[in-house]
Amino acid sequence: MTQPRKIVFATNNAHKLHEIREIMGPQWHVMSLADIGCHEDIPETATTLAGNAEIKARYIKDRYGYDCFADDTGLLVDALDGAPGVYSARYAGPGHDSEANMALLLKNMADVKERSAHFSTVICLVTGSDVRFFEGRVDGTITTERSGSSGFGYDPVFRPDGSDVTFAEMTDSEKNAISHRGRATRKLIEYLLTTLQ
Ligand code: IMP
Repeated sequence: MTQPRKIVFATNNAHKLHEIREIMGPQWHVMSLADIGCHEDIPETATTLAGNAEIKARYIKDRYGYDCFADDTGLLVDALDGAPGVYSARYAGPGHDSEANMALLLKNMADVKERSAHFSTVICLVTGSDVRFFEGRVDGTITTERSGSSGFGYDPVFRPDGSDVTFAEMTDSEKNAISHRGRATRKLIEYLLTTLQ
């Protein structure tokens, strides 16, 4: 039997890891940052999602030698000129949580009528000297108040187009089927399984 091919997913998010390992199956050995002994805080200093994803993937390739992919996600609100965007995790300032980020978003949009927004996930894959990007996007609306308790981040205030409920009112599989991350991940996996095997 051939050995599974090793690849690093530059994350320690157990949920994301579990999901991708399930999809990729036994011919891939997907390792987390902890699995390769990387405990550094990789600086995310770029001003774009693609830039940050590339920083993380290259960091691992350069220092640890493994093929690697990394993701970065943002919520882009049209009426706020694309904010919080690349700063979505720290919109309310460093050390603040999702609750504070959502509260600030609703406050900044208190008088806004046109509430369109989208989530974008960019995945950067670095294999050998090759660098590739995969994007997933979902369009929707920022609600005026929170609804639902599933998911994380801005889920309670984001209602995807074509749906009557927010992401936080969906099951994991309902959300994955249409989400930014689900779409980007499926593009990555299709590439890995068909092109790199
Ligand atoms: P990350 O790049 O996946 O860590 O995402 C950055 C930030 O975007 C998170 O801290 C969340 O605030 C937000 N975010 C990312 N994905 C989602 C999602 O699926 N739902 C709601 N918020 C999200």
